[in-house]
Amino acid sequence: MSIPIVRTVAELRGTIAAWRREDLKIAVVPTMGALHEGHLSLVRAALERADRVIVTLFVNPKQFNRAADLAAYPRTEHEDAARLATLGAHMLYAPDGAEMYPEGFATTVSVAGVSEGLCGANRPGHFDGVATVVAKLFLQTGADLAFFGEKDFQQLHVVRRMARDLDLPVEIVACTTVREEDGLAMSSRNVRLSANERQAAPRLAAILFEAAARLTAEADPNKVLAEARQAILFAGYSQVEYLELRADDDLSPLDAAERPARLLVAAWLGDVRLIDNVSVRPGRASSEESSPAKAA
Ligand code: PAF
Repeated sequence: MSIPIVRTVAELRGTIAAWRREDLKIAVVPTMGALHEGHLSLVRAALERADRVIVTLFVNPKQFNRAADLAAYPRTEHEDAARLATLGAHMLYAPDGAEMYPEGFATTVSVAGVSEGLCGANRPGHFDGVATVVAKLFLQTGADLAFFGEKDFQQLHVVRRMARDLDLPVEIVACTTVREEDGLAMSSRNVRLSANERQAAPRLAAILFEAAARLTAEADPNKVLAEARQAILFAGYSQVEYLELRADDDLSPLDAAERPARLLVAAWLGDVRLIDNVSVRPGRASSEESSPAKAA
């Protein structure tokens, strides 16, 4: 089994025009490759809602802050294509840098508000890079539906805001974070953890879920967040970049879980930066399983 790999906008548009003539519903799943079960769950969700599913693979230089990170990003197109073919995706769109950003490219899509703080505070320009490439992918594919993981919760908000503000006729579909058996959120960065770090890593999710449960029980948020921060460091993480309670619907900072909220974290384990988030529903248990090991 194989999957067609398309490299140019012209070829992409040709195929899409043919699908449109047949009145087919088209979904896009934007990725940077190195596909893991989290990505595959997005593709499965897309296949349930659309007649044709395009998975994009483009390691977007505009969203990397450090050249070394861009160079080290895993590139596994052959394996990715094989996995997508097995799932039944219809196209892998994998343009190169010159196709995506031709000579003289000069446009940036910048989303104020939701891009600020959290990951935006520590990765200047990152969300401009994401918004720019995702806008292009939406326009290139003309997809009716686009699937994103809640693992990158701030990115999801940036993409939603951008699509709404620019009247892009695409429905953004959010999919729940997929976790390893031990609760660690799936990420292409997990392969960079040493054996010892991999053992310590799931504590991050466990601590988040515990803190979310305490916040729903109306515990003092300052105390809960301070204790969770300490627990993350005690678990072996070297730095907590942020640990914040934000509103679920617009990411505004919250002092208390008085409306549906998210607890979001970025922390460093050795030289690997991990992010995660869980929902906090006032007066109810977290919408995800309270035990992260069962949250997959
Ligand atoms: O989440 C990602 O992999 C990337 O940020 C995305 C959405 C594919 C844009 O490059």
